[in-house]
Amino acid sequence: MKFFVDTADLDEIREAASWGALSGVTTNPSLYAKTGGKLADFEPHMVEICRICEGLPVSAESTAETTDDMIAEGRRLASLAPNIVVKLPVCTEALAATHQLASEGVRVNMTLVFSAPQALLAARAGARYISPFVGRFDDIGDDGLAQLQTIVAAVKNYTYGYWDEEGGPEIITASVRTPNHVTQAALMGADIATVPFGALKKCVRHPLTDQGLASFAADWAKVTG
Ligand code: G3P
Repeated sequence: MKFFVDTADLDEIREAASWGALSGVTTNPSLYAKTGGKLADFEPHMVEICRICEGLPVSAESTAETTDDMIAEGRRLASLAPNIVVKLPVCTEALAATHQLASEGVRVNMTLVFSAPQALLAARAGARYISPFVGRFDDIGDDGLAQLQTIVAAVKNYTYGYWDEEGGPEIITASVRTPNHVTQAALMGADIATVPFGALKKCVRHPLTDQGLASFAADWAKVTG
């Protein structure tokens, strides 16, 4: 299981990267809007994330609506840095754009995936990454982890011939809310979890670790006087 951080906040990305356990970054229009950034700053912001996380995949989402516009925007985003991954929402226009971009060697992360057929079509079109959402299923009273399990099992039944040498397509567990989402995704064999910074910090902590630290510190204080 690889950990990506699901944020566009530069401080969060810097801190997560400093832990030495980060394998990538995902962003989306909502996460960028949360930083307060404006359109003119979007590309420099993505370039800065790519600089902080040199060599790690950084997903930058296209907001284009037609295949031609997605291809043009995808090419432009890909030209910003060698580690940019173009994020496209699953739809017919994006499948066609993914196919073209993949043939040019551009990595696409197909997002907003909620079903096995969507994921299988993304893989067949040439997506390098496929992002099924877990938490948003839970939000509507469905079982996001059960949905993820179906998607992982279906996608891993086949090979696709685009990104074999890189181990792709990799499944990014997205819309992660809790450490248990990470645990269960790992047990299912999902390749990656992209985790918001707050939930990522929760993954580091455990109440028994905190208790153990406090008792070690108290006992050591007896030793040192
Ligand atoms: O990056 C896409 C995904 O992780 C969004 O998560 O929490 O908005 O459902 P969320």
